[in-house]
Amino acid sequence: MIIGVPVEGAAGEKRTALTPRVASVLRCWGSEVRVERGTGLGAGFADADYAAQGAVLSDGSGVWREADVILKVTPPSPAELEQMQAQATLISFFRPHSNQDLLEVAVQRELSVLAMDCIPRISTAQSMDALSTMSNIAGYKAVVAAADMYGGFLPGQITAAGHSAPAEVLVIGAGVAGLSAISAARALGAEVYAFDTRAEAADQVRSVGGRFLALDSDEDGAGQGGYAKQMSNDYVSRELALIASRLPSAAIVVTTALVPGRKAPVLITRQMVESMAAGSVIFDLAAEMGGNCEVTVADEVITHQGVKIAGFTDLPSQMAVQASTFYSNNLLQLLKLLTDNGQREFNLDLDNRIVAAALICLQGTKRWPPPQVVDITPSQQPEPPPVVATRKKADRQASTSTRRHNYLVWLGWIVAVAGLYGLGSVAPPDFLERLTVFVLACFVGWQVVWNVTPALHTPLMSVTNAISGIIVLGAMLELQPPSLGVASVLAIAAVLMAAVNVAGGFFVTWRMLKMFHK
Ligand code: NAI
Repeated sequence: MIIGVPVEGAAGEKRTALTPRVASVLRCWGSEVRVERGTGLGAGFADADYAAQGAVLSDGSGVWREADVILKVTPPSPAELEQMQAQATLISFFRPHSNQDLLEVAVQRELSVLAMDCIPRISTAQSMDALSTMSNIAGYKAVVAAADMYGGFLPGQITAAGHSAPAEVLVIGAGVAGLSAISAARALGAEVYAFDTRAEAADQVRSVGGRFLALDSDEDGAGQGGYAKQMSNDYVSRELALIASRLPSAAIVVTTALVPGRKAPVLITRQMVESMAAGSVIFDLAAEMGGNCEVTVADEVITHQGVKIAGFTDLPSQMAVQASTFYSNNLLQLLKLLTDNGQREFNLDLDNRIVAAALICLQGTKRWPPPQVVDITPSQQPEPPPVVATRKKADRQASTSTRRHNYLVWLGWIVAVAGLYGLGSVAPPDFLERLTVFVLACFVGWQVVWNVTPALHTPLMSVTNAISGIIVLGAMLELQPPSLGVASVLAIAAVLMAAVNVAGGFFVTWRMLKMFHK
């Protein structure tokens, strides 16, 4: 299989779909990686870096005409798509809502197209979710660039020359880009306020250090698949009043509000901009979809009554190294899914939820819009089916089985107590003492391991390591040569098992620490 990576044709685009590191992984799978000369230059990867990883350097037509799979960041032009051989596959952002004509070219050329912007936002697709990758970068970059445009400090300062309070940052829309903006602004020392129409966003805002601005309303903005829904006019007018109340004190406003498939809602009117202090900055991430601010002009920075309004639509490209590295990893994860970790030929499995959602064209057959994908989280469990005639029977069966289970538990306890009583009358006292300690240890261990939340498993591991150390010592004391009885055999087993636990614990801890090494 030839995997081709052309130069991104879009003006000013610096990202690339493939880093040399991922190229080397694809080479290890046995694929030929064909890279157009100059592909990685904008992101700091020289042709020689690709060649060193076994990629073949080629001209543009050698990539477009001969590759079985083309990896790209931005949607191709119709002319580029027309060069692809029939039955080949394109994997890139595609924006099928607005690129219907391009999709028609794919149909005529009998191509398959996997649109990275259609990867569903479900937990199993997180590692391939290129939209989130780009939004995360855009949120961070927006804050860094806005801080640069703003003329003051973000953290509070007390110096001999004077003092300043922490700057206020307002983030509107706390999705992926918004949360990333909040973290970045907090890291720079600002006081961050955020608003979102989805009630569940409140906890997420707090978890990254922001203060959530609550609107007194029963309406919730949560829509399908983790995205927002359109709000009522009444809600939006109250929202505007809330935002207006924060603007005069805000140094930086980052807007990211979006409902998929719709024009961005206008949440900052011209009049509201005029209420802001001169020198403050609005960074409108939704500029491409019309902007959340009435004054925004896409891809420009304009100044309105002293307030700067930035409408860049290429923020990920402005951080091309990071964006290319993460995007290339997203593609690698998708290719792993399509080839079973490089074990088999490229295979588009329509039963897979991720493939089904992202595949907008299959060998010339249009599959857009794709079937809806619903991620079932515990709070979104489907409604129980309506009550039917069999309900009572099911209830009866359930209660019979619960009763049987209870009988068995009681029977188990009676047998255990009788057994211990019998054992107590024949076994030596020190055996009973040890058995009691053993049973208690098992019970406490079981309670500790099962009832500790997964987030605390790492500290728990340290504690169990310490306990394993004690077990090793205790078991070694039990080993009393020269006699090798049952106790000695058990002690040897205990030493072995506890030693495995200690060594394993250190190994896992070492691997975790390695993740934090730069
Ligand atoms: P997202 O869907 O994760 O987040 C959007 C958030 O806006 C959601 O949390 C939603 O609840 C909220 N929202 C919707 N209507 C609202 C309203 N009326 N008031 C307050 N909040 C509202 O989207 P994501 O991935 O975070 O992207 C955000 C924006 O950033 C999009 O417009 C996207 O196109 C843009 N973007 C811009 C880039 C650039 O270079 N300028 C790069 C990447 C993304």
